[in-house]
Amino acid sequence: MRVIIQNDYETLSLWAARYIAQRIRRFAPTAARPFVLGLPTGSSPLGTYKELIRLHKEEGLSFEHVVTFNMDEYVGLGRDHEQSYHTFMWKNFFSHIDIKTEHVHIPDGMARDLEAECAAYEAAIASYGGVELFLGGIGSDGHIAFNEPFSSLSSKTRIKSLTYDTKVMNSRFFDNDITKVPSLAVTVGIKTITDSREVLILVNGHSKAHALQQAIEGAVSHAWTCTALQLHPKSIIVCDEAACGELKLNTYKYFKDIEGPYLDVDALLK
Ligand code: GLP
Repeated sequence: MRVIIQNDYETLSLWAARYIAQRIRRFAPTAARPFVLGLPTGSSPLGTYKELIRLHKEEGLSFEHVVTFNMDEYVGLGRDHEQSYHTFMWKNFFSHIDIKTEHVHIPDGMARDLEAECAAYEAAIASYGGVELFLGGIGSDGHIAFNEPFSSLSSKTRIKSLTYDTKVMNSRFFDNDITKVPSLAVTVGIKTITDSREVLILVNGHSKAHALQQAIEGAVSHAWTCTALQLHPKSIIVCDEAACGELKLNTYKYFKDIEGPYLDVDALLK
C-alpha cells in the first residue's frame, strides 16, 4: 500500500486528479480499448472532480474513451431526485467533460428486480475486462462505497442496508431528517473494488482519522472494510495532515520519507 500525505484537502485533490489524468494519458485509451474508471460520490471527491474538469478544459484531458462505473446508488431514489447519485455525478462531473453518455454506468436504485440489476452491473464491468482504476472515499466507520462494517470482504455488487451512523451522516443532504434518508443502497462489493487493477482512496479531515489509522495499521477485518485494501497489490491512499492524527509517529514518518519524491503535485502534470 502507498500512502500519500498531502498538507490539505486542496493539494490532496490536485494529487489525485493529476494522478488519474496521468494514468489515463499513459494508457492512451481508444474506442476499442477504453480506460475503465470506478468513481465515488460524497464530499471527498469534489475537489478531485474539479481539478479533472480543469484538466479537461485547459489541458486537453479527454474522457472520450473513458468508461465509468459508479460505486453505488440509493434504493428508491429516481435518477432525477436531487440527492440521487445520478444527479450528483452529472452535476459535479459528467456534464463538464466530454464523456459519452453511453459510457457512464451508475446502478439503478429504482430497478424492479434489484438482484438482477446487481448481477447485470457486475456483468457490465466484466464485459469491459474489469476496472483499471477505482477511485473511492471512506466513511468515518471505514466503509468503502456502502460496504458498511461487517460486510463480506468477498462481496460483489448487491443490496445493503445502511447503518444508523451512515444515515445520520448522510441526513445532512436530506434536510437533516434521518427519516428521509433511504435505508437501502445498491453498492459494489469489496471484492468488486479490490478486483480492480488499482485502487485510489481519498481520506481527508479529522473525522476520518480513526478510519485512516485502521486502514493502514489495523488488522484485516470485516469490522473495518477499508482494511481489505491491505490485500490489494496496488492500492494508494491519498490523505491530508488532518486525517493523520491517529497514526503512529513512525508510520507517519515512514510514508512521508518513502513517498517524499512523489508528493509534488506539479510533477504529475508532466
Ligand atoms: C457515503 C458513500 C461513500 C463515501 C462516504 C463518505 O457513504 N457511499 O462512497 O465514501 O459516504 O462520504 P464523504 O466523502 O462525504 O465523507
